[in-house]
Amino acid sequence: MKSHGSLADRRIVVGVTGSIAATKAAEVVSQLVQRGAQVHVVMTRAATQFVGPLTFQTLARTRVMVDPFDLENVIDPTHVSLTDEAELVLIAPATANVLAKIAHGMADDMLTSLVLAIQCPLVIAPAMNDRMWSNKAVQANVARVRELGAEIIEPEKGFLACGTYAVGRLAEPARIVAEVEKRLAHRGLRG
Ligand SMILES: Cc1cc2nc3c(=O)[nH]c(=O)nc-3n(C[C@H](O)[C@H](O)[C@H](O)COP(=O)(O)O)c2cc1C
Repeated sequence: MKSHGSLADRRIVVGVTGSIAATKAAEVVSQLVQRGAQVHVVMTRAATQFVGPLTFQTLARTRVMVDPFDLENVIDPTHVSLTDEAELVLIAPATANVLAKIAHGMADDMLTSLVLAIQCPLVIAPAMNDRMWSNKAVQANVARVRELGAEIIEPEKGFLACGTYAVGRLAEPARIVAEVEKRLAHRGLRG
C-alpha cells in the first residue's frame, strides 16, 4: 500500500542508544511513521535498559534489531542489508560512547557495524550530561564525526535528567523530524 505524507515511503533507519532520552526516540519514530516513512529501528543493548524494543517494534511495525548474533538477524535484514535500502540513518539519542565508536570506526554491535556500511546521509542527535557534552574528548569526537560526513543536530539547553539546566538535552523530536525531512527533500526520491 502506498503511503502518504511528507516522508511517504522514504526508508529510514533509526538508531537508539543508551541515554535517558531514548524515551523521546519513540516520539521521533512515531512522527516519522505518521509522515509515511518506512522505519527500521536498531537499538544498542544499553538502549533496551531505557525503552523496550516492543515499543519501537509496535510504532514502526518492523522488527527491532539489537544483537547482530541473533540467529534471525544473520539472515535478513542484516546490519549490511539494512543499509542497502536506507535513504537516511538517524541516531537519536546518540550517547558519548556511540559518538566515540563512530569517530574511530569501531563496530562492536549492530548499530556501529551498520554505520560503517552506510551509503546514505547519517544524522546524529547527541544527548548527555552537560559536562560530558563539553568534555574535550567528546567534542573532538563530534568534530571527527562531522569530518567523516555526518550531520550533528546539536543538543539543546534545558533540564537534564541529572537535575541541572544546561546544554545536553536531546533536540526536540519535532526539530529532529524537520531535519530529516529537510535532508531527504534535498536528496529527492530514490527508485
Ligand atoms: C540512568 C543513565 C542515564 C544515562 N544517560 C546517558 C546519556 O544521556 N548520554 C550518554 O552519553 N550516556 C548516558 N548514560 C551512559 C550510557 O548508558 C553508557 O555509556 C552506555 O555504555 C552507552 O552504551 P551505548 O552507547 O552502546 O548505547 C547513562 C547511563 C545511565 C545509567
